Amino acid sequence: MDSSNNNLSNIGFTQDFGEFTDRDFHALSKFIYNEFGIQLPDKKKFLLKSRLIKRLKILGIPKYSDYVNYVLESGQKGSEEVIEMIDVVSTNKTDFFRENAHFDFLIDKVVPDFMGRGIKSPKVWSAGCSSGEEVYTICMVLEEEVRLNRLRDYQVYGSDISVSILKKAVKAIYPFSRAEQIPDRYRKRYLLKSKGDGKQEVRIVKTLRDKTRFMWLNLMDNQYVLSKNFDIIFCRNTLIYFDRETQRKVVTNMLEHLKPGGYLFIGHSESLLNQNIPNLKQIKPTIYLKLK
Ligand SMILES: C[S@@+](CC[C@H](N)C(=O)[O-])C[C@H]1O[C@@H](n2cnc3c(N)ncnc32)[C@H](O)[C@@H]1O
Repeated sequence: MDSSNNNLSNIGFTQDFGEFTDRDFHALSKFIYNEFGIQLPDKKKFLLKSRLIKRLKILGIPKYSDYVNYVLESGQKGSEEVIEMIDVVSTNKTDFFRENAHFDFLIDKVVPDFMGRGIKSPKVWSAGCSSGEEVYTICMVLEEEVRLNRLRDYQVYGSDISVSILKKAVKAIYPFSRAEQIPDRYRKRYLLKSKGDGKQEVRIVKTLRDKTRFMWLNLMDNQYVLSKNFDIIFCRNTLIYFDRETQRKVVTNMLEHLKPGGYLFIGHSESLLNQNIPNLKQIKPTIYLKLK
């Protein structure tokens, strides 16, 4: 970017990044779909345009069309800017104890089933974990089961394509207001409150943080660098961004990492209906069992 542009933004003029043409939008959305499975229909054009401003400013790229060329020419999905771009493009909405019925099912059905089958230290994967709320919710629930001697231990892995969101997950520090979703009994035991500096924040206790691993993983990859011995997979509110064919591919790949007799949870607004995925039995509308 030339210095005159910099000066303009310094004294408060809004910089004009040129037109984000339909051609730019379609080229970029096609790339994002091919590499990450995320669909961006035409109505998302304005949203994409506004989210990308941040990247253009940081890189000092004066025009949308130059940015689009820069990303497309960098080609490889691992390239630095593609990772940065996907950070601003992905939707990371999440919550503690989101779709709570799944956690009741975990306590009431899954743990007793595991106890009966001698699975004492289940391994759980949250695929599309966002900033970690889902991972720590699972930890709180399973830690209670350990306290009750119904389990011996557990591990929870979280994966996502957004690097900045994964950093938040590792830090495990959240605004106090977000913790309101957490039932009292868990809040008292598993949250640390910030001391005095005016910021109303909470942090997940180390005992739970130590049970977690976070990693960057693109669900669109043909193979995942991940062990194949998970007892439970949560993939909630992530499949919804994929079309049916991609959903089928992703679920089939994920199942490679789930042990027979393991459980798959999907989001309440998602469905695998008529997908005919082998060895998968629906036991509740959004809960599946991998057959032996
Ligand atoms: C809406 S959040 C859902 C978070 C959490 N599972 C929940 O239900 O609250 C969806 C997450 O999926 C991630 N995601 C989208 N496409 C992905 C892909 N191709 N591979 C891995 N993660 C992806 C996004 O970055 C985002 O953090």
